[in-house]
Amino acid sequence: MEENAVKNWTQLWLNYIPKKEHGNIDYIKNYCICGFGKEESIVGHAMKELGSGVKGMLGVEPEEVEKSSFTAGLMIVQKLSMKEEYSMKEEYFMEEEHSMDEEHSMEERYSMEEKHSMEEKYSMREEHSMEESPFINEGEYRLSEEAGTLLLEASDGSGLLYGVFHILRLIAMEKPLKGTNVLCRPDNPLRMLNHWDNMKGSIERGYSGESFFFNDNKMILDERTRDYARLAASVGINGVVINNVNVNDAATWLITPKYLNNLKKLSELFTCYGIRLFLSLNFAAPMSLGGPDSADPLDEQVITWWQQKITEVYTAIPNLGGFLVKADSEGRPGPFTYGRTQADGANMLADLVKPYGGVIIWRCFVYNCTQDWRDYKTDRARAGYDNFIHMDGDYHDNVILQIKNGPMDFQIREPVSPLLGGLKKTNQMLEVQAAQEYTGHQIDVCYLIPLFKEVLDFNTYCAPQYSTVADVISGRTFGNGYAGMAAVSNTGNDENWTGNDLAAANFYGFGRLAFSTSLTAEEIAEEWIRMTFLGRMEAKHAMEEDHSMEEDHAMEVLDTLKQILMESRSTYEKYTSPLGIGWMVNPHIHYGPSVDGYEYSRWGTYHRADHLGVGVDRTDRGTGYAGQYYEPNASMYNNIDTCPEELLLFFHHVPYTHRLKNGKTLIQHIYDSHFEGVEEVKEMIAGWESLKGKVPEDSYVRVRERFEKQLWNAREWRDQVNSYFYRKSGIGDERGRMIY
Ligand code: GCU
Repeated sequence: MEENAVKNWTQLWLNYIPKKEHGNIDYIKNYCICGFGKEESIVGHAMKELGSGVKGMLGVEPEEVEKSSFTAGLMIVQKLSMKEEYSMKEEYFMEEEHSMDEEHSMEERYSMEEKHSMEEKYSMREEHSMEESPFINEGEYRLSEEAGTLLLEASDGSGLLYGVFHILRLIAMEKPLKGTNVLCRPDNPLRMLNHWDNMKGSIERGYSGESFFFNDNKMILDERTRDYARLAASVGINGVVINNVNVNDAATWLITPKYLNNLKKLSELFTCYGIRLFLSLNFAAPMSLGGPDSADPLDEQVITWWQQKITEVYTAIPNLGGFLVKADSEGRPGPFTYGRTQADGANMLADLVKPYGGVIIWRCFVYNCTQDWRDYKTDRARAGYDNFIHMDGDYHDNVILQIKNGPMDFQIREPVSPLLGGLKKTNQMLEVQAAQEYTGHQIDVCYLIPLFKEVLDFNTYCAPQYSTVADVISGRTFGNGYAGMAAVSNTGNDENWTGNDLAAANFYGFGRLAFSTSLTAEEIAEEWIRMTFLGRMEAKHAMEEDHSMEEDHAMEVLDTLKQILMESRSTYEKYTSPLGIGWMVNPHIHYGPSVDGYEYSRWGTYHRADHLGVGVDRTDRGTGYAGQYYEPNASMYNNIDTCPEELLLFFHHVPYTHRLKNGKTLIQHIYDSHFEGVEEVKEMIAGWESLKGKVPEDSYVRVRERFEKQLWNAREWRDQVNSYFYRKSGIGDERGRMIY
């Protein structure tokens, strides 16, 4: 086992610097644990985290006390099912001989309305559950304060851990624990990070250094791995795929004795933090690893080979979550080679992992990547739906189809994939990309939570109620226990984990959003800023000192950073490709403008600009893609008058003289938005510069340098895109600005 080459790294939002106390010490200096076995590794790790967090932030070491001598502080109680929550609360307070008054007041804090809405939300999944899922009831907890006692009730170790992180979050945000009263249960059963790490150490689409899982075809496991697990667990991540979906070379060998022992160690470390280890699988592994000379999923020899392999793997790593598979996509092998379906491939593997409680996550990123640009009929956007919809219901219970948020590939603006909710009888999971492949490479600031949030809130109309993407992928709509969200991770071994310090908000935010899909992007931004930047940079706990200056600084940091984050996606969108068309990037690297870079390529990513207009006709007169949605979405997109303008060029080929709703012509909108985008970057830079001395200097410098590059990038985009359309259309800028 290797160690990480980079020896220093930050703790991001778990930096545990001194924080304002707010009376919190009283709730935390003593704690008592009832019900949980302390030998459970997750319990021990949770308490260790509580200890170091409280010590760092409040300067005291929490002390464990026996139940008999507990009078006030933190009481941790195991409760097997949160369904019994109200009666349990009574029992606890009776048992602890609290007065009837207290008991009564606890009950009264939940209005009938609140109770009903919580119960309804949480029972949907169980009532309609089609299958047993190991993830379904994991991780719930309640945190409530009453008369000097903070009560943390959790049903399992994960719930306890999440509850502890919740307490630490409140302290880190400098919020009082007094009056806390929340019931938290993960909205999504699976909340996963997909690392695209290669075993050599590089990361596909990685913008923050090298892998901290692999180097030189060896695995790495050290303190940084633990810190990664702590960070991931602190935001509710419960599954991690450590290797690239493109499984090449050494990565195929991960499922052999060469690596199993080390994988077992990693999985055990992850288990201490409530995380299941997953691996990406090479569908043609039998052929690469000396098995049969075929990967045909219906071939008996192939099945037998996989059966032995899976047994071997699960014997070594009993708590392995399962496998992620990219098949028949961008040159990867898959069932199509043998005339078999995607379901044939997925089900074969799923049946074999089922006895071990394993899951097969099968990606829907299947399209023709050898298209001819002259071909106007084939539409890459249609491919996901066309390839998967007709087999809806054919996938076995422990298969989950993982669907990218848009039908193309993580552009700054795309419609939501019609496959989400299009499938009604198949487990499905949403895939988003925290790695900023097309959104600025973690050089440009682009807070992606507003984008993820938009996707989650999209009404698919797939059911009379509970029909948003958040409903579908949480399992609420169709009663799936195997469901959830995955993000392509944006981390690497850079000292600050994410290249740009501000990109850590996407790591943090993805986890928080996957856990609680109803949080707003703004709430998440605020949490992250408070946790990361508030507090005293030097380790001093002098509570009586004058804090007024710090207070002013803190508010300035909060407001300025929130504004930078919240506007960053729209700014990026303004200076890059207009109105949902996407793809005007430098081919392969995907940073910087190249308007025609993909226009005559095989990738199916065209903007179809000519001297009269731009955009792809995906209506019923064009490729028919709009028809893949349920009504009323299908008609809305199909009609240029009702199509949301930010997606206009995704769905329609539009003349430059077309008037938008605000009265501007399309061409004028292109010019204006590009000029605006660059100005907004300058404003963001001014905002950041105003924080000098108020945020840690190293962080300040790193971000400042990146902003410089972002400004350069934005200018290139503005000028290349504007010149391109000026030359195509011959129509000048109404405001006479410089177009080259
Ligand atoms: C994009 C990306 C690839 C990646 C692929 C995928 O096309 O550029 O690097 O392999 O997505 O999601 O599989």
